[in-house]
Order: sequence, then C-alpha cells, then structure tokens
Amino acid sequence: MRLIALDTLKPGGNRGEFRPEQARRLIELIDAEPSKPIAVFTHHPPFELTVGPDRFHFGTMESMLRLRDALQHGDRVIGIFSGHVHRAATGQVGHIRASVVPCIATTLRKGDYPPLMKSRPVYHLHRFDPAWGFVTESRVVGADASPSGGTTSSITAASLAEP
Ligand SMILES: [Fe+2]
Repeated sequence: MRLIALDTLKPGGNRGEFRPEQARRLIELIDAEPSKPIAVFTHHPPFELTVGPDRFHFGTMESMLRLRDALQHGDRVIGIFSGHVHRAATGQVGHIRASVVPCIATTLRKGDYPPLMKSRPVYHLHRFDPAWGFVTESRVVGADASPSGGTTSSITAASLAEP
C-alpha cells in the first residue's frame, strides 16, 4: 500500500484548488510504482456532498475535475480520504470510494448528534485488506469504558470495501 497526501488548499483562501502542475506530479507519483494500491489523502473532498451548506468545496469545478481525473489515472488509487467539511460523508471518484472524517473536535463538528454524543469525539479507523479493500469503522471515544480505565470504542460501521 502506498499513501499519497495532497495539499489541496488554495493559497490565501480556504477553498480547494488543484493546479495543472499538481495533476502532473500526482500522475508521476502514481506511475512511479506500478504494483501497489494507493490511498490518497486530500484536505478538500473531491466529490459532491449532499449535506451541509456547500455541495462543492473547490474554488472552481475545473480544479476539482482535474483532481478527479488525475486520481483515476492508472486504476491504482483505491481509496480517498478527506476532511475540511467537519462532518462524515461518503462519495465516489469514478469507481474509487471516498470518505470524509467527522471533525474530531466536538465543538467544531457539524451535523446532528443525539445529546449523549455531543461531547464524544468520533473518528474513523481505516483497515486495508488486499482481498477486500478498505473497511472504515466509525469509532466513538468513551462509548465503552475499558478495564484499564482508559477509553475504548464501540463500532458503528461504514464499509468502504471494494464493491
Ligand atoms: Fe479546511
């Protein structure tokens, strides 16, 4: 498994941007090692969200489409993981599954949570298996006290396995 992290922030702003030279570099990185699957991390989700005030988070559609095209180069990217919108979401980039992690800081987290969940961070744990692809678990901090006195997690599941 290879991991590639992309800086998708538009300089001087908070929208996403992906310039032609970044697309060329991403394609070079994808082509650099042809045998391993790749997971890509982006700040801004490169897909349409159906929740929240904005459906798209790049400054221009052209920029997001450039990123989407580059991600699909070579068919080796098998998972895309993003942030920025502070709420959990899933989407697609072609046949590639994509997800957004909810904001770990509960005071900045978006979306509706029941009262007992309001102060409990939720995070994603991604597990890769060559046979099944990615499975992503949503874990709730403090949902189940461990014998050692620390916090463990209960699992609500969102599968990102290959279809
Ligand atoms: Fe952001």
